[in-house]
Amino acid sequence: MEIPNHPAHLPTPVMPQCPPQHMLQGQKALVTGAGSGIGRAIALALGQAGADVIVNFVSGEETAEQVATEIRAHGVRALALRADVSDEAQVQAMFNKAIEAFGTIDLLANNAGLQADAAFENLTLAQWNKVIGVNLTGQFLCAREAVREFKRRGVVPQVSCSAGKILCISSVHEVIPWAGHVNYAASKGGVMLMMKSLAQEVAPYRIRVNSICPGAIRTPINMEAWGTADAYHDLLRLIPYKRIGEAEEIGRAAVWLASDYADYVHGISLFVDGGMTLYPGFETGG
Ligand code: BGC
Repeated sequence: MEIPNHPAHLPTPVMPQCPPQHMLQGQKALVTGAGSGIGRAIALALGQAGADVIVNFVSGEETAEQVATEIRAHGVRALALRADVSDEAQVQAMFNKAIEAFGTIDLLANNAGLQADAAFENLTLAQWNKVIGVNLTGQFLCAREAVREFKRRGVVPQVSCSAGKILCISSVHEVIPWAGHVNYAASKGGVMLMMKSLAQEVAPYRIRVNSICPGAIRTPINMEAWGTADAYHDLLRLIPYKRIGEAEEIGRAAVWLASDYADYVHGISLFVDGGMTLYPGFETGG
């Protein structure tokens, strides 16, 4: 495209290769914890946008295989791979298999996460380690393998204008403190600065790193918060937009953020939360 008055010493403006409905055509994605909930929705959305997808799971092989089958219905490739993301050797083996199958990985959605809630004085070291191990160390281990592959391969302009993308699935609780969930909030606070520090470090290699921070999304992890009418009524006090979110809405955000349409978006936490981070307690004064 001819750009009037564009000085020759400035880079050519980015023109995404794919039309919006095929935003990720030809890209290879790996989604951790993709057997259910938000991970499943992200994996399906990436597949629908044209990416081949590795569906990582740690348990529930059959469900993960079903997700892979659903993804293939979009005419792309999908492969379910088991790995515990908190285990270094398993993460490395998974990336090796993924790269062997697809040739490379262009996009990591670091999604696997869990809660193990307890009042602080009852929080066991095992519960602490489990949550930090999966939610934070797991994201580190997967991001490190992805960065190694992105740097090895570099930019392939026909595929994407970046050498690779990492999406960290964080939470509103990377900034909202959460009593009774100290291990979980600590893990997500850690994800925030891991993501931003990594983004700073790898930007010169054209590797984009961002987070999506879901608020209350209707998945099995928080059924307590929406499973009954009373619980749902209470939950809405925390959401200015006055509805719970759906996992597909995180999938849509992931597609855009991972695509070249977001090529200049780097190191941000994108809150998809119906305004949960807007201090709704102040709605009626202060
Ligand atoms: C948690 C959910 C919770 C939501 C909003 C998420 O990160 O996993 O259990 O409903 O934050 O509080």
